[in-house]
Amino acid sequence: MTDIIVYDPADFHVHLRQGQLSRLVTPHVAKGGFNLAYVMPNLKPPITTTDLALAYKQSLEAIDPNIEYLMTLYLSPELTPDEIRKAKKAGIVGVKSYPRGVTTNSDGGIESYEVYDPIFKAMEEEGLVLNLHGEVPSDPESNICVLNAEEKFLPHLVTLHRKFPKLRIVLEHATTRAAVETVKTLGDTVGCTITAHHLSLSVDDWAGQSFHFCKPVAKYPSDRRALQQVIYEGHPRFFLGSDSAPHPIVSKSTATPTEGCAAGVYTSPILLPLVAHLLESFGALDNLQAFVSGNGRRFYGRTRGKDSPKAVRVVREKSKVEAVSELDGIKVAPFWLGKELNFRLGSL
Ligand code: DOR
Ligand code: ZN
Repeated sequence: MTDIIVYDPADFHVHLRQGQLSRLVTPHVAKGGFNLAYVMPNLKPPITTTDLALAYKQSLEAIDPNIEYLMTLYLSPELTPDEIRKAKKAGIVGVKSYPRGVTTNSDGGIESYEVYDPIFKAMEEEGLVLNLHGEVPSDPESNICVLNAEEKFLPHLVTLHRKFPKLRIVLEHATTRAAVETVKTLGDTVGCTITAHHLSLSVDDWAGQSFHFCKPVAKYPSDRRALQQVIYEGHPRFFLGSDSAPHPIVSKSTATPTEGCAAGVYTSPILLPLVAHLLESFGALDNLQAFVSGNGRRFYGRTRGKDSPKAVRVVREKSKVEAVSELDGIKVAPFWLGKELNFRLGSL
């Protein structure tokens, strides 16, 4: 088969960090073939206000002005309906909810959804999107751990959708068959992102391999199959959000016995060739355009990109995932380091 031309690839969930790490990783959005980044707000301190989000956007534009950055706020008690209206006017697109303590910088995450009803109502009215990290916190008393945390979260998704049927909600980085099936039963206002790495990993791949550890963790092979299947079917409400989440190598390694391993898999620099490679592996390459662009853009009402249409050439040629990137002593390692992909990016 010949090369594939993909139009306006959009990554609807990515962590671009702050400070030096941001300077290192933000250029990798373009390197991976993408021209839209839906930017997560879990910085330190989190992006809880419109002003912080706009300043963050400016800092990203100073690093790479050619990417369209869609900004989000971190759901927290500081948020008010007025701030939602201000955010909408300023072009902020969504609000991200992290349950307390489940992942990187989520100490300020939420404990109960009901208290946020006035916020959700304002978001529904204004057309802001609610992005859900769909896991409940681990709780030994209730037998909840990383393996069933997503499934246990799904009733919250259903309740939120029933209460706010016009509110657009995205269940982020689905990892289970149960999540796929639940989203399918819900209305058109509910979308779902799938990462590249969850199309590749299952439990055995991260148990003992810290660079494959992320939240939510990859689940059973049958869950991975369900994620692949829904892309193969071309379901219009499922789309790519890479959840590319770089951490310095020292934080990912387990060489320090007293420190845990940071959660996050880093896919940005190889994203489009990686997704092409994975989709081809389960016979879904024909749905590449829809999965990496069309479905997400339709859901978000962003069918035209910044310099749209931007065409990207994906060349069928073996390419090895390149070495670690480094800036001022900070090093990050990409997913599948040293492995071979069946595709690479080409010029037009
Ligand atoms: O693995 C993850 N890493 N999951 C998240 O939800 C957050 C992310 C991060 O920011 O490192
Ligand atoms: Zn994320």
